[in-house]
Parts: sequence; C-alpha cells; structure tokens
Amino acid sequence: MSRQATNEEVAAEPLPATEEGSAEPQPPPLTLDDVQKDPAISAFITGADRVMEGLGFTEHGFRHANLTARIAFNVMSRLGFEPRSAELASIAAYLHDVGNMVARENHGQVGALLVYDVLKGRLPTTELAQLMSAVGNHEEEGGESISAISAAVILADKSDVHRSRVRKSGQIEFDIHDRVNYAAEQSFLRVDSAARTITLELTIDTEISDVMEYFEIFLHRMIMCRRAAEKLDCRFKLTINGATLL
Ligand SMILES: [Fe+2]
Ligand SMILES: [Fe+2]
Repeated sequence: MSRQATNEEVAAEPLPATEEGSAEPQPPPLTLDDVQKDPAISAFITGADRVMEGLGFTEHGFRHANLTARIAFNVMSRLGFEPRSAELASIAAYLHDVGNMVARENHGQVGALLVYDVLKGRLPTTELAQLMSAVGNHEEEGGESISAISAAVILADKSDVHRSRVRKSGQIEFDIHDRVNYAAEQSFLRVDSAARTITLELTIDTEISDVMEYFEIFLHRMIMCRRAAEKLDCRFKLTINGATLL
C-alpha cells in the first residue's frame, strides 16, 4: 500500500516552476492603450457608470477612469519609479471602479476579480496581482496603500473632485456630495519630488459649499491620501483657495 507523504517531505519537494526561470510564456507588455481599446472593459466602465447614475452618485465613467489613470501615471513618473510601474499604476487607476458595474458595496474587491477575469493570460501573473491588489484596496472601507501602485491609485482617485462630475442641473437641490463637487472649480495634484510633497490644490466656490462641508465628507479620504503619500515616502498637503489646511 502506498504511503502518504509527510508534510516535511512535501515541503522539501521543489516548488513548481515560477515566472522567473521557467515555463509561463510571457505575453508582450499590456499597455494602458490596450486596456482603453478593449471592448469588454469599455462595457464594464459604461455599466459601472450606469449603476452609479442609478444610485444618484457623481460621474464614475470614462472621464473619471481616464483622469485617474493620467494622475496615477504622473505621480509615479514624477517620483522616479520605473516606466513599467508607472504604466501599471495607470492601468490599475483606469480600472479601479469597474466593480461598480455589479454593486457599490465592496466594489473594490469585486472589481479586482473582474480585472482578473478580463486580463488573465494577457500580462504576467505578478503584474496582474499588482493590478488586483491596487483595485481591491482603493476604497475607504477596508482599503490600504499596500504598494506604491496602490498608493498612486488612491491619490489619483481621491483627488478627482470637480464640478464636471455632478450630473444634475442647477435647478435641482444638490445633496452634500454634489454640492462639494460642484463647488470645486479646480483641483490639481501637485507632486514635488525634491521636497517629497504631494499637494492637493483645490479651488472652491464658497458661495456653493463651504470648506467645512468639504471636510465633513472628505476627511476620511484625506486621511487615506496622507497614508498613501507616506507609502510613497512623501508628505500629503491640502490647500483650499490658496490656504494650507493640512
Ligand atoms: Fe471607487
Ligand atoms: Fe473612483
């Protein structure tokens, strides 16, 4: 009768081949351009924005996806990360909200699994894992800056506060999220690689929403940005209408 291997014997066996040194064929590097042109991913983003519209949330479609991709790329590039890491950050940022296609709750983790499904086999597994962890960790609820790429996605996402995200017309009574977004006339994430600071510069029309309202809904996001900046070995700063608040 054959004997079952002990745990020690199993542990001593050579590990299956990994990407270094073997077997898994390496596809050509997946680019942001490839992802932007993918019809299935475009359908995910369209679907996600439709769900968010149905829930009464601000714009979460191609505008938000493209903008966060660009900001995440810039953060990584300005801080001297290698081009491939910057590209991966931009891809993760482009994809970060696809989970909203299913539901708002847990959309980070759901989105990570959607990313796995749609991109499996199209980039090395180690890169796919980096995208999934960045997508799965971008939200305030349970999300953490677990890598530089994830930190760049968080900073890019949370800094997109702008009136163009508000869907409703001026006649409709805004809720606080709409009001704060509508009040934001300009937002810019400034990366100073020499000073190691990342500053969110906002211009807010205080006739529409005052600064306290901004903090009322965005305090948690700002704490997340501070941690993300620290992950990138930087200090997070916030200025509103030229005044430094953080
Ligand atoms: Fe999100
Ligand atoms: Fe987002």
